[in-house]
Amino acid sequence: MKEAKTSVMQSNAVITAIGTYVPERILTNADLEKLVDTNDEWIIQRTGIKERRIAGDMQFTSHLCFKAVLNMVERYGADVSDVDYIITATSTPDAVFPSVSSQVQAHFGIADCGAADIQAACAGFASAIQLANGLLLSGAYHKILVIGAETLSKITDYTDRTTCILFGDGAGAFLIEASDDGNGDILSVYAKTDGSRGHLLYRSSLSPSLDGHDLLENGYIVQNGREVYRWAVSHVSEGINQLIGRSQLSVDEIDWFIPHSANMRIIESLCERTGFPLSRTLSSIQRFGNTSAASIPLAIDQAVQAGKITSGQLLLLYGFGGGLTQSGVVLRWSI
Ligand code: UT7
Repeated sequence: MKEAKTSVMQSNAVITAIGTYVPERILTNADLEKLVDTNDEWIIQRTGIKERRIAGDMQFTSHLCFKAVLNMVERYGADVSDVDYIITATSTPDAVFPSVSSQVQAHFGIADCGAADIQAACAGFASAIQLANGLLLSGAYHKILVIGAETLSKITDYTDRTTCILFGDGAGAFLIEASDDGNGDILSVYAKTDGSRGHLLYRSSLSPSLDGHDLLENGYIVQNGREVYRWAVSHVSEGINQLIGRSQLSVDEIDWFIPHSANMRIIESLCERTGFPLSRTLSSIQRFGNTSAASIPLAIDQAVQAGKITSGQLLLLYGFGGGLTQSGVVLRWSI
């Protein structure tokens, strides 16, 4: 039997910079009223979303990543020329290959650099941080770019009112470096998967539809919203409580809770079931909708820019979604 891991775990990973980017085009609830049978009141009441950003026709996920990394370079004077690994979490790569990470490597002309994309849907960003921590701890790499980026508008069916009101585009990046003294900022991690519920939220590509219906050829997101909602409220709150337990911290000692911005109602339920007050909870849902792997860095950066998150504070990040996947990290913000 597997031993339950109650770690304050090993880490030498220090987050040294953050950068974000969202496309300029805004899609409001009023715009959606013209596309499908919906209304602003329903969308706000059920989801908390007011608007989302939509990439241009020829603007793809890699382009959003370039701008997020540039934003980091400009704000922090970050040097990415000696990055030795790039991990991009995305469900909407420009192509299956080359990876988005490879395109980021080429764009910034980074020599001697590994590059790989990971796909864990809305749990992608927290998963990528966990992987980066392991790579840094191994001693094999010293400076890693971790990016969460999506152009979900390209796989959203704008005739389906149950999904098209939810999703938006954006990108966020962390620069994570190995500390010289071996003391890192990643305090604890947790991940859990329930593949048996995979058919509740998917995008078909080469496989037949996962929910037993006809083969879907359009490649759009398919979701059983009500069931995903139920799962999120019950199982995800359990996962968050596991992560809090592993961190050996109390909820009061964690300064900010940053759950994936899936839906404001889900976030409120997660707060109730984990004990985090809404006043210490951050989301990017209102302005950017559900941006999957990008939602957590976008929420963090809004708070960093507003002066809410400050150096030395403790953050709990928690992604959840397609898979169905869950992935969380408790970290110290030391920028
Ligand atoms: O990041 C990945 C994880 N994904 C999620 O977290 C999504 C989880 N699910 C949700 O966020 C919610 O289930 C939705 C926002 C997608 C839907 O909200 P809901 O409260 O679960 O609505 P529902 O599906 O139970 O539908 C209620 C009613 C239905 O009408 P009837 O059957 O009661 O007459 C729907 O047809 O609302 C109707 N409806 C809409 N009405 C106006 C569904 N979509 C819309 C819409 N505008 N856009």
